[in-house]
Amino acid sequence: MDFDLPAVKPSSESTDAEDRSPSKVTYLHYRAIVANDWDIEDDDLFEKAAKAKLDHADYGVIEAERNESLLRSAEENDLKWPFQCRSGTCAMCTGVVVDGDAEMEMNLFLEDEEIDEMNLRLTCTCFPESDEVKIVCGAIQTDYVRDIARNRG
Ligand code: FES
Repeated sequence: MDFDLPAVKPSSESTDAEDRSPSKVTYLHYRAIVANDWDIEDDDLFEKAAKAKLDHADYGVIEAERNESLLRSAEENDLKWPFQCRSGTCAMCTGVVVDGDAEMEMNLFLEDEEIDEMNLRLTCTCFPESDEVKIVCGAIQTDYVRDIARNRG
């Protein structure tokens, strides 16, 4: 018996991804936004964060390989971003991409409009696409993400 199996290409592990230079990822933890009474919608949010002399855990720049998830790259830089399943099925690792492009290879939780309009991403399955990415991590602490984590399932 013959089967025609679909071609499967693991995009995150492709040679193309390995050949591309790392992405420069600037991160800001949501708890620092709250602590400084900023708003995630502030146009100058990352400029304010850069001037605020925040701790490495709350603000900084890392190099992220194209074939590694944002969560994994953060961990390799000694950052402890929240996570639970590591497989795109919960919301614990959610970040908000403020600038640049980062694509999820697996998402079994977020709705289309949360991705397209709110720029939410599951960092455990999300890979940097653009040369520079700005992301608010720790978005599970926002009212919105906490609510969908509790109520969707
Ligand atoms: S840790 Fe659950 S979706 Fe990323």
